[in-house]
Amino acid sequence: MLMTEMRTHTCNELNAGYIGKEVILCGWVQAIRNLGGMTFIDLRDRYGITQLAFNSETQSELCETAKEFGREWVLQAAGTVAERYSKNKNIPTGDVEIIVSKIHVLSQSEIPPFTIEDESDGGDELRMKYRYLDLRRNPVKKNMLFRHQIAFEIRNYMNNIGFVEIETPFLIKSTPEGARDFVVPSRVNPGEFYALPQSPQTFKQLLMLSGYDRYFQIVKCFRDEDLRTDRQPEFTQIDCEMSFVTQEDVLNTFEGLVKHIFQKVKNIEIPDIERMTYADAMKLYGSDKPDTRFDMRFVELNDRLQHKDFSVFNQAELVIGIVAKDCGNYSRKQLDELVDFVKRPQVGAGGLVYVLCQPDGNYKSSVDKFYDQNDLRKVAEKCHAEEGDLILIMSGKTEKTRSQLSSLRLELGRRLGLQKSGEYKLLWVVDFPLLEWDEETERFYAKHHPFTAPKPEHEALLLTAPREVNANAYDLVINGSEIGGGSIRIHNSAMQQKMFNVLGFSDEEAQKQFGFLLNAFKYGAPPHGGIAFGLDRLCAVLSDLDSIRDFIAFPKNNAARDTMIDSPATISEEQLKELGIEIKN
Ligand code: AMO
Repeated sequence: MLMTEMRTHTCNELNAGYIGKEVILCGWVQAIRNLGGMTFIDLRDRYGITQLAFNSETQSELCETAKEFGREWVLQAAGTVAERYSKNKNIPTGDVEIIVSKIHVLSQSEIPPFTIEDESDGGDELRMKYRYLDLRRNPVKKNMLFRHQIAFEIRNYMNNIGFVEIETPFLIKSTPEGARDFVVPSRVNPGEFYALPQSPQTFKQLLMLSGYDRYFQIVKCFRDEDLRTDRQPEFTQIDCEMSFVTQEDVLNTFEGLVKHIFQKVKNIEIPDIERMTYADAMKLYGSDKPDTRFDMRFVELNDRLQHKDFSVFNQAELVIGIVAKDCGNYSRKQLDELVDFVKRPQVGAGGLVYVLCQPDGNYKSSVDKFYDQNDLRKVAEKCHAEEGDLILIMSGKTEKTRSQLSSLRLELGRRLGLQKSGEYKLLWVVDFPLLEWDEETERFYAKHHPFTAPKPEHEALLLTAPREVNANAYDLVINGSEIGGGSIRIHNSAMQQKMFNVLGFSDEEAQKQFGFLLNAFKYGAPPHGGIAFGLDRLCAVLSDLDSIRDFIAFPKNNAARDTMIDSPATISEEQLKELGIEIKN
């Protein structure tokens, strides 16, 4: 399969069919076993493992040499394929071994800082520092190959439906996607900076203008934001754009891509993807990326709980509850754990009210002082809670309370094992609001980005009632993870200018930052729209893993550092001077 001048086969290729053949293999020493009369070496390459055998009687010199080798040495071994005495049914090459006639050490290795095995003895930090060794391990290698397969299937599918891959520049000017930019100083233009793209958004729109009506690119994007398990400062998008399309066209096209990926890499036929409006997602799950592998929808309880003397509920804008099925027997300790969970700073709630629906038909709650059995029965009825269930209730400002209950819902999902691995629930969240009001800075921000068009029927509201304007903007959510997002774009100057104004840009500022786009729209801009998927996240969700780091060959750690190459790092005085940068301590 992979014959070169240095090797005839890979370490995963040989089996009983090759017995008697002369072969040459190359690879790393996985293990050495000295069994008195025989010495065995497991030779490993990217493809698998083959056993090399040395007989101390018939090959005494070779055998002595082999005993000196160490783990991770690189060898070239020539010999004859022979039937193995004790077979290993767990590997494809387990029926055979190589009776070595010639061995050549291509490279020696120091003892590796951790074992190159599926279950390594190396901690996270050590493995990151020696990532090139970590990449030799099967679980990491599997992820790299999986990512390759997905990227390959994407290119294949997109090419077949007429999309062309076009590269866009990395040294650009700020593209507002909501994060901070990474900037690069320009030596030839002292005092000026490039920004690395947070996405190729404006370029792909310009390509539409240039007539490339189906564009895609598997492309690195850079965002200077706080790291999380699903965020890296540099990550990869499957970036796509189409001309002469409606939202329906975009969703259908990419539903096809998503179905293709699932089919090819998971052998799963996924049904048509459900859709939910942003408003419903927030109302029912308190999140614009709900994990719909389990139900546990929110029930609004203002009408059932604001008629007594419990001031916490009476003062609240929203009182909402969820039902944890079959948790009505929770102990005091278990309930306290849930209360502690919502009080953690990350969730930030003041407290949590519970109602246990007991097997005898009675209710027991943390607010028994204020509500009688009849009140609690009415709550249970509205929640469709049955005997043996637990109702958990939170209250406060609408947005905040929804988000807090959403955290509790996910925590319960985890505790109750409702986020089943191997199960995939896909969802298009549609009809996002165009704008988002920020209390702190007292201004509107674009919910998606400033190039997203208002729904045509909402255009008139843009200046009079901006909060009510929705967009043909959509996200693809898989198992509660935001995998992709896109929209139908603005394609005329006047509307784009208006949008910038709503976002608080003066005409001059808009012209300075985005004059190129406003200008371009004057030269025949087709209606267009698109989407970008996060490739790293897609790999992770399809593998039932949370962390995207596992799918990036050389990722950054939580402090945005690459500990292997020790970056970021300072640069020399000379370099700084050349760039016209002065660092003040
Ligand atoms: P958006 O900002 O939603 O849209 O990004 C698209 C997708 O990229 C992934 N993603 C990330 N993955 C890892 N680390 C990050 N820091 C990170 N940030 C985003 C997510 C997300 O859904 N230009 C628009 C797309 C468009 O309108 O066509 C954009 O970038 O999976």
